[in-house]
Amino acid sequence: MNKVVLRQPQVADGTSIWHLVRDTGVLDVNSPYSYLMLCKFFSDTCVVAEQEGQIVGFVSAFRLPADQQTLFVWQVAVAESQRGKGLGKALLKALIRREACKNVRYLEATVSPSNLSSEALFRGFARDFATRCEVSECFPAHLFPGGNHESEMTFRIGPFRYQT
Ligand SMILES: CC(C)(COP(=O)(O)OP(=O)(O)OC[C@H]1O[C@@H](n2cnc3c(N)ncnc32)[C@H](O)[C@@H]1OP(=O)(O)O)[C@@H](O)C(=O)NCCC(=O)NCCS
Repeated sequence: MNKVVLRQPQVADGTSIWHLVRDTGVLDVNSPYSYLMLCKFFSDTCVVAEQEGQIVGFVSAFRLPADQQTLFVWQVAVAESQRGKGLGKALLKALIRREACKNVRYLEATVSPSNLSSEALFRGFARDFATRCEVSECFPAHLFPGGNHESEMTFRIGPFRYQT
């Protein structure tokens, strides 16, 4: 495999990230503006994977305003051609090892019940850190318009006792 570089996103990556998210076919595609905003204002808690000038992976996250020890992971996307090679987990690990996350003790993400790869990703991540993964309901399906969105379950992972 050609070298994959993990780095903080820059605003110039916004459009590529939007395409990557759109091409997953399963993630909510947010506005191009929102990806530019993440790249500009939240780059210390977001990460991209770049291979030969292409963005092949992305994680958006932020520390909860009311609980800076919790990193909330919003979206994780890996290009189809790169899946199953450990890149999703490597992106999350790169993030949690950042200076900006040095006081983070928990990682939270929401997962819809049918997204087995997402569930496997977060459970595997918790296992690698030898820590807990607790699941509870975050947003029940009825809160979403249109009646075709699953519930979103919170996966709360931690505490992190050490950085692996
Ligand atoms: C979910 C996603 C990010 C995983 O990325 P990835 O790079 O393939 O994941 P990894 O290779 O790092 O695998 C992490 C773990 O999940 C497991 N896994 C990954 N895809 C899986 C699948 N389809 N079925 C079962 N297990 C799977 C791996 O075996 C690995 O397990 P391990 O910790 O026991 O070794 C990727 O499938 C994706 O982009 N999906 C579309 C978007 C999405 O659903 N995002 C998540 C919601 S925010």
